[in-house]
Amino acid sequence: GMGQDTAGPVSVAAVNEALDVGRVTNPYVRAYVQYWATITEPARVEVVSALDDARLVAEALDAGELQPAGHGLYYSRSYSKDTARSEERTIVATDDETDAGVYNNWRRGDEMVAAQIHRMAGQSAGRTMYVVPYLMSPEGSPLAQYAAGVQLTDNRPVVLHMIRMARVGIEHLDELPDPMDFVKAVHVTGDLPNLGQGTPEDQRYFVTVADRRTILHFGSSYGGNALLGKIAHGLRQACFDGRASAEHGVGGGRGFLAEQFMLLGITDTVTGKRWHVAGGFPSASGKTNLAMTLAPDALGERYRVDFYGDDIAWLWVGDDGRLYAMNPEFGVFGVAKDTNAATNPTALEAITPGSGAIFTNVAYNPTTQEVWWEGRTPEPPTDVTGWLDWKGEAIADREPGDTSPWAHPNSRFTTTLANVPNVAADFEAPAGVPVDAIIFGGRTRDREPLVRAVTDLAEGVYDGLTLGAEATFAADGLDGQLRYDPMSMRPFLAYGEGDYARHWLEVVGAATEQPIFAHVNWFAKDPEDGHFRWPGYRENLRALLWLLALKDGEVTGHRTPVGIVPTAEELDLTGLEVPEADLEALLSIDTERWRQEMAFRADHLAQFERLPEEIWAAHRRVAQALEDAAE
Ligand code: GDP
Ligand code: PGA
Ligand code: MN
Ligand code: MN
Repeated sequence: GMGQDTAGPVSVAAVNEALDVGRVTNPYVRAYVQYWATITEPARVEVVSALDDARLVAEALDAGELQPAGHGLYYSRSYSKDTARSEERTIVATDDETDAGVYNNWRRGDEMVAAQIHRMAGQSAGRTMYVVPYLMSPEGSPLAQYAAGVQLTDNRPVVLHMIRMARVGIEHLDELPDPMDFVKAVHVTGDLPNLGQGTPEDQRYFVTVADRRTILHFGSSYGGNALLGKIAHGLRQACFDGRASAEHGVGGGRGFLAEQFMLLGITDTVTGKRWHVAGGFPSASGKTNLAMTLAPDALGERYRVDFYGDDIAWLWVGDDGRLYAMNPEFGVFGVAKDTNAATNPTALEAITPGSGAIFTNVAYNPTTQEVWWEGRTPEPPTDVTGWLDWKGEAIADREPGDTSPWAHPNSRFTTTLANVPNVAADFEAPAGVPVDAIIFGGRTRDREPLVRAVTDLAEGVYDGLTLGAEATFAADGLDGQLRYDPMSMRPFLAYGEGDYARHWLEVVGAATEQPIFAHVNWFAKDPEDGHFRWPGYRENLRALLWLLALKDGEVTGHRTPVGIVPTAEELDLTGLEVPEADLEALLSIDTERWRQEMAFRADHLAQFERLPEEIWAAHRRVAQALEDAAE
């Protein structure tokens, strides 16, 4: 396997020396590294910081773990059964059974710790254990206390991804209020071809022991399972900490929210107005594209979109009583599919030569050092010489008529925020940004209009809890299935949904200025021929501008039982042609279809323990309004 040799397990003295060289003085960090080295038995230990990037890249290129993809661009391939998050192997464990929800696969903490120690024992033999100290927040954030962690990983490409996705270096842990306040995040790759993926003998487990602030992931090198700062700490652990932190006075004693949210700013350069919008869509449903949106050409003179974050936001009520949000990440782990000059020119600029971007599981040509993915250009390269698909198999050797994709549908690019051309000037400001609107969305082929606004907090939270969308290829084996995904947090919830709803009501309810809520849908399809009714991508800004105009009282919209929908006149369609029939469908509510939906929603919500009465009341109000409309 990669990087293995015959060296025996590292000695206590050698670990101490590595920690000294890496200037790790915190005795709790030192003890944690020593402890796990005795369990996983790596051949050596190395403390890394972002300054080590160039050397680690060179080593990874030498070892064949990365391949060159042009100047300062890199290609990596993960094992073919390890290309997406594995939700059914993901567990949140605590000592308190009341943390069990419908979706968090709750287990008892001591059982899971013992089981993971057993699985990980000796599994880093011959490899280097990298010690990756990181911070999931801008420096100086009011939530910084919840942001520090130390990932241990035996996988060099994972280190290189972490350096792009989080602030990495021991200096980020210098100012811990309490030296024990860091997340212990252990990642052991395992013998990937022999873990029984998808069989009853599956060895992989991805466990967050939330009440011990300990993350133990075994059996993957794919980013969504292996970048513990991002997925497990930034979402699952922070979801748990966000509620627990109320006791420590955070957010005016309400705690904070950690959500799978993009975060963007919109500036109207004519009036000088500026808004911030946060929004949750399930994985591979448009968060990254929305945050990177360039205003459509016809509106580009007037409006500017600033990128703050594309996958995670932490929200809290600030000392001035306003609701704030910040992106704890340092980079973008974006879906490659359909990224091109028309859909997302900003993303293309963020991954140009010299950016240090890493591509994973796209198609690769080692001769020309080019990469390609479906939708990069309308057709794949006509000269297939040298091209390899995401599994590393030559395109030239394909059977005639083989139309399987060249790139994996969940292939990704990884690049730092600073490379994103529309990144906000203040993206690292510790204060965060005030939130004017919270939107939910997903891939919904029918029922959901382009945008419907909800002005009541309980109805907004209810709308998030009943987010129903098609699952995507970002999670194994679920593509296309319709399912509920509360707030887009289904794979990341750390405790029960009823308590989570209560926490939402308390945090957002404490804000002196309430954000407007909305449900958006860029993915409505014509049932006849399946075309997308809305052009999407850059044009999505038009729906957001309408929502903000509604919030500011400049338009009134059209009231429906499920929220306020724009009239055709209110939606700024300058420079855009949308066929009459599509526009009509995008801006109307199918009452019958919605009445059916309400019965499913009742069943969905009934699963949740301790669901606040306010949420049930919101459900009944919407249901009654639909009945009244049907009469
Ligand atoms: P994320 O995983 O939620 O960040 O989603 P991305 O922004 O990476 O998008 C996931 C996939 O959906 C990509 O293949 C995008 O090209 C596609 N996508 C994003 N926004 C739109 C849109 O507005 N319309 C359509 N049709 N596709 C979109
Ligand atoms: P995504 O991020 O939401 O942009 O797909 C990665 C993930 O959630 O797995
Ligand atoms: Mn995500
Ligand atoms: Mn994304």
